Amino acid sequence: MLKDIAVWGRSTTEYIQMFDLVAADLKLNILDCAAGPASFNAEMTRQGFNVISCDTIYNLTANEIAHCIQEANQPIMNVLQTNSDSFVWQKIQSPYQLQELRMAAMQTFLEDFRLGVEENRYITSALPNLPFTDRKFDLALCSHLLFTYSHCLSQEFHLASIMEMCRVAKQTRIFPLLSTSGKLSSLVQPVINELKKQGYTVEIKEVAYEFQKGGNKLLQVSSPL
Ligand SMILES: C[S@@+](CC[C@H](N)C(=O)[O-])C[C@H]1O[C@@H](n2cnc3c(N)ncnc32)[C@H](O)[C@@H]1O
Repeated sequence: MLKDIAVWGRSTTEYIQMFDLVAADLKLNILDCAAGPASFNAEMTRQGFNVISCDTIYNLTANEIAHCIQEANQPIMNVLQTNSDSFVWQKIQSPYQLQELRMAAMQTFLEDFRLGVEENRYITSALPNLPFTDRKFDLALCSHLLFTYSHCLSQEFHLASIMEMCRVAKQTRIFPLLSTSGKLSSLVQPVINELKKQGYTVEIKEVAYEFQKGGNKLLQVSSPL
């Protein structure tokens, strides 16, 4: 786990908007990669849907993950307050409200974590490797790791991770395409070019979610098979 990468998680409402998940998508077998302390798995499972989450932190205890969340909290709040102009304060109206929403989501994750590990819904693994057979999932999601952390994850890492997600799932969606700087990641175009060269189907889609200004697009990829 890289120290720069925040252990921080979003809610199912945010996942649905970020990944443009329609009712039919929710019924699919979904893999959430670099899922961290997002509440998507907990909330979806409670509603009878099928989600498996992967992250490097799932070998920790719930208390240790709670500690990582506390460590991430202040630096994130500082960024939101200092660079407030870089964010869209509509659905979420203030840094304080964002903190409340995210903390509630992460608490939902923490309460579900132990049971989820027992039920093999939270699997410890590190991209670019996934411990699953080919096409086990219909849909693989990855939010706020790829492209977000372009400054510390290489183009090779991005390509290998996306190809691995496409190996285990029929379709892969990645959100957002911006880096932490708020600018389009410089890796987006080279990664798209290389994927297309290797026969993958690649599409950029606009979505209803925009918190980082201009961050309202996802990358949808599927393998040539
Ligand atoms: C900012 S959080 C995003 C969590 C969640 N996807 C969301 O949007 O709410 C980034 C996550 O990526 C995880 N991570 C970092 N490197 C990873 C890797 N190589 N493989 C899988 N997960 C990784 C971190 O542990 C952290 O939980």
